[in-house]
Amino acid sequence: MRTYRHSLKALRDAALAHTLEKNPDLASLARELGSIIHRDAQALADGLSDLRHHNRGFERWLLGRRGRPGVSVLVMAWPPGYTTPSHDHAGLWGIELSMYGALEVESWSRASTSEAWQLRGRDWLGPGDATWFDADTHYMHRCRNLSRQETALTLHIYGGDLEDYATYEPVESEPFWQSQSQRARIAGPLRV
Ligand SMILES: [Fe+2]
Repeated sequence: MRTYRHSLKALRDAALAHTLEKNPDLASLARELGSIIHRDAQALADGLSDLRHHNRGFERWLLGRRGRPGVSVLVMAWPPGYTTPSHDHAGLWGIELSMYGALEVESWSRASTSEAWQLRGRDWLGPGDATWFDADTHYMHRCRNLSRQETALTLHIYGGDLEDYATYEPVESEPFWQSQSQRARIAGPLRV
């Protein structure tokens, strides 16, 4: 019988196998990961019920990583209604997928650091759906758990260790967004 640990391992292995190039094909990786999540949705939801029920706030768990080319694979737990600030990803490429529950993603881009941020789109991700972005410092997004009752779980793959990044608050005057440096905290390793 396939357990959630097999599913997590399949997700981690697919993420590592598809990212051996510096600029991997994110669309095909998103399809591959999405199909594993669709296939194993129930096992993942049941097996990760601790993460869904322990109510410790927003958490990042490390599922796997590799140096050269750098890749990190994380599972995140989103309390009901939790919204991130608008944030960048330190210039790394990335894929973010829903594993359980639904997420709203609003994204912005800009031509250069001196230009204004432009709203690029708003997506709604159900289990297996993904959003992705290339290695580009001129991209940011804000994500929200659309449920008011349930914790959502998401899978994130980045082209390196996402430790130092920036959040952006809207302000009244130019440049209309104020950035602040942040450090990403990892709750612990997720064992498979
Ligand atoms: Fe993000």
